[in-house]
Amino acid sequence: MTVRTAAAAPSRPALPIADVDADVARATSTGVGEFDRVLGGGLVPGAVLLMAGEPGIGKSTLALEVAARAARAGHTVLYVSGEESAAQVKLRAQRIDALAPNLFLASETDLGAALGLLDQVNPSLLVVDSVQTLASSQIDGAAGNVGQIREVASALIQAAKANNISALLIGHVTKDGSIAGPRALEHLVDVVIQFEGERHSRLRLVRAIKNRYGPTDEVGCFDMGDTGIVGLADPSALFLTSRDRPVAGTCVTVTLEGRRPWLQRFKLW
Ligand SMILES: Nc1ncnc2c1ncn2[C@@H]1O[C@H](COP(=O)(O)OP(=O)(O)O)[C@@H](O)[C@H]1O
Ligand SMILES: [Mg+2]
Repeated sequence: MTVRTAAAAPSRPALPIADVDADVARATSTGVGEFDRVLGGGLVPGAVLLMAGEPGIGKSTLALEVAARAARAGHTVLYVSGEESAAQVKLRAQRIDALAPNLFLASETDLGAALGLLDQVNPSLLVVDSVQTLASSQIDGAAGNVGQIREVASALIQAAKANNISALLIGHVTKDGSIAGPRALEHLVDVVIQFEGERHSRLRLVRAIKNRYGPTDEVGCFDMGDTGIVGLADPSALFLTSRDRPVAGTCVTVTLEGRRPWLQRFKLW
């Protein structure tokens, strides 16, 4: 049996290209300069980002920072946490100074309920922490399996595109470094951001590995500390201390990360 798709009435007519409104696709600053750098200017309305990284690296912290900055800039922001209770997220917000009046917070693991919240709050930025913790009751299987992740992502993408909402989806990577479940989303989302860093170091690198709106060779540098995550416009300062005289047994090297050169000091013995 052959299945054929019948022509239907279009929801929007095709326009002469000169009449298309391009302003709706312009990036607006997130208020976090190093994040804007990675995104190629900022967040685009209707754009869906996947931010992937290992547990504990700082994804929730950066997402909350971006959410608070956007809220302080006048946007309505909805932060849906499936990982932590609202009280836990509030404690983090207090610690990193992210209590903003237009920032709405909900702890939710049901996709349908999250979409309901989206209708209620009508935000311009949505943060979902994480895609692996939401699940649809219409799909078999537990939260986090590939079928669920795909359903969660496609429903959120559809909602974001229909309402011009920027969405930031957090995804966990597995220990071997692949974005396990979330890797199945890479072709669905507009931007994929990878969070990198070592446990013993405060330096965090954030790079775009896919970006429909900007370059993919930019790297954002952050300092992860007790009071939050702070952009490092000059990462060399983290490695170099100013000394009057050269120190025997050390050398300074220049490395290039994406488009950014920086200086690092090493001990030779
Ligand atoms: N109460 C706290 N005081 C200071 N630093 C904390 C506290 N809780 C978490 N952190 C820091 O935040 C990091 C976790 O960041 P988080 O944004 O939750 O990571 P992710 O969302 O990627 O799992 C921890 O590794 C730790 O460095
Ligand atoms: Mg987290």
